[in-house]
Amino acid sequence: MSNDPNRAKSTPRAFSGIQPTGDVPHLGNYIGALRNWVDLQDSTDGIYCIVDLHALSVPREPGEVGRATLQMARVMLAVGIDPERSTLFVQSRVREHSELAWFIQCVTAFGELRRMTQFKDKSESNDFVSSALFTYPTLMAADIVLYDTDVVPVGDDQRQHLEIARDVTQRFNSRFGDVLVVPEARIAEVGARIMDLQNPQNKMSKSSDSVLGTVSLTDTEDEIARKFKRAVTDNDAEVRFDPENKPGVSNLLTILAAAKRTDPATEAENYTQYGPLKTDTADAVIEMIRPIQKRMAELDDGTVSELLTAGEDRAREKASEVMERVRRAVGLF
Ligand code: TYM
Repeated sequence: MSNDPNRAKSTPRAFSGIQPTGDVPHLGNYIGALRNWVDLQDSTDGIYCIVDLHALSVPREPGEVGRATLQMARVMLAVGIDPERSTLFVQSRVREHSELAWFIQCVTAFGELRRMTQFKDKSESNDFVSSALFTYPTLMAADIVLYDTDVVPVGDDQRQHLEIARDVTQRFNSRFGDVLVVPEARIAEVGARIMDLQNPQNKMSKSSDSVLGTVSLTDTEDEIARKFKRAVTDNDAEVRFDPENKPGVSNLLTILAAAKRTDPATEAENYTQYGPLKTDTADAVIEMIRPIQKRMAELDDGTVSELLTAGEDRAREKASEVMERVRRAVGLF
């Protein structure tokens, strides 16, 4: 819970972010993150951010990120982020994110950033490796601590970024006093790492070119059915939940269990063959996604923009208060 001396509150603060990249979020983003944000709305005070500045850490065309931001906001509202209960906004609109990131960089060691596996992976797969790709976790830590965040609901791939965020926050506090709240990761038990349907050794990812392996929230029912039908399994024809030895089958069981809110090992008991498992998983996903697609079609750009502006005002108010606390603690002129 919060160690912020200025805040007396009983509801924990949740914060999380998603990059506006790719066309729309995929099933991994939804199951691993977005859906948990919606669930947490009952028990936390949620702040959800479209992290457009993070998206600029790899080269983008002019206008690309802006368009993707609006689309992402539409998806977030359609999945059930409720602007009455949660704060939904765009990172670049609240300047304190970039400002605090600098202060965080000043207490982050070069060696700490060099160990980040996402940096290693991404710097190998990009021709132009920006310095922002390297310092990315410091902006992410700033995003989080700027709102006195208690819990950060994320997928498994963000675990290391959350660890560094905690470490640098603690270091900041040990140098400047008890200024920032040290956040905790909240990673779901089922579905925190949804794998690519074609390459189940790799996580499902917006940046991969595996079209058949990635299920998007805007795929048609036929596309979803086809992708699950063609999902890679293995040759030993036994339905068992064993992610290490049977990644493809286990991924299907995980997706099915996540869609039905059950548990993958229990689901495995219902199947002896891959065919019915694939069909049922596709059906469960279609069921889960259908209401989201319906709401997406109903939301117009004007409404989405207005809601973002209202969210931004609320976010800025909180962010400026924390930023001022940081400046004072550091003791600038
Ligand atoms: P991003 O945009 O890559 O992903 C958004 C969220 O989706 C989760 N996720 C997955 N979960 C399960 N299976 C998958 N295959 C899968 N792929 C993605 C991610 O774990 C994430 O929770 N660095 C972050 C964005 C960020 C952020 C933050 C997050 C910036 N600042 C502050 C939390 C707090 C990112 O690139 O997420």
